[in-house]
Amino acid sequence: MKHKGFTLWFTGLSGAGKSTLSERVFEKLKLVGAKVELLDGDEVRTHLSKGLGFSKEDRDANVHRLGFVCQLLSRNGVIAIVAAISPYRETRDEVRAKIENFVEIYVHCPIEVLAERDVKGLYKRALAGEIAHFTGISDPYEPPTSPEIIVDSSLETLEQSEARVWAKLKELELYS
Ligand code: ADX
Repeated sequence: MKHKGFTLWFTGLSGAGKSTLSERVFEKLKLVGAKVELLDGDEVRTHLSKGLGFSKEDRDANVHRLGFVCQLLSRNGVIAIVAAISPYRETRDEVRAKIENFVEIYVHCPIEVLAERDVKGLYKRALAGEIAHFTGISDPYEPPTSPEIIVDSSLETLEQSEARVWAKLKELELYS
């Protein structure tokens, strides 16, 4: 398998399926021998972004750090995958501007479905007013205006969403 260095950036609300889909793509790429790294918001916040909270300033700092790492990896031929809410459009676009091959994947899911699924129990707490600045409830989420890929985890299976990713990467000639 031959591939270029590029960044796959998964954005969307908590629980929308960013981690699940990005892990699937990551594992498959590893299996075929690609040079690839996965940076997941939840995990990154335990080291690279340790100490950062959820104010706009802190989220932007988190996204800029992730973007910086992606820039270094991508320009050295590595595939960098990010799964982070990254709620602010302008901040994502700043990162995009610095990375040659930037592929943005908007993982959409209606908020009612997310509140119903509530895998981590966070929506219940946020709706009860127990978590300030919770994305989608008491804090903004700005969807991308022209992402390379849009998936909807309430309408598609994981396999269908995954297929969209492979199709777009082929179309963009990022791997063969
Ligand atoms: S980001 O906004 O800076 O991109 P990131 O993806 O790193 O967010 O972290 C989001 C994760 O932090 C969520 O999946 C959730 O588990 C947890 N979390 C804790 N507090 C909040 C909050 N106020 N808003 C959103 N997510 C939160």
